[in-house]
Amino acid sequence: MSRHVIDRAEEIPPGTRRVVDLDGRSIGVFNVEGTFYALRNRCPHHGAPLCEGPVSGTMLPSDPDEYRFSTAREHQIIRCPWHGYEFRLDDGRGLVKPETSRVKAYRVEVEAGDVVVYTR
Ligand code: FES
Repeated sequence: MSRHVIDRAEEIPPGTRRVVDLDGRSIGVFNVEGTFYALRNRCPHHGAPLCEGPVSGTMLPSDPDEYRFSTAREHQIIRCPWHGYEFRLDDGRGLVKPETSRVKAYRVEVEAGDVVVYTR
């Protein structure tokens, strides 16, 4: 397991993210209301830079070209910027097929004020 110090926690304030390259992998580090998450920056659908997508709650079922948002899991879901697939920030599971559609999630800790991501 590799340990990577990303930055001081105050340099990644709540509501922001940082995309970093760790061991040749692009990884997004998110601060959601003081809790940090890290996800691989590659959508499993067609490889979009997933971590550039919006963080929100999930969308509700709706007709084509209609977007209904839910406050359920507000700020806990990232939506792919290419085709809109949604994934949980905490474990990377897709909302539609959580058992098969998944993004790699990494362990993140705040250690002595540093944001630290662990990769294998
Ligand atoms: S590439 Fe992410 S949903 Fe298609």
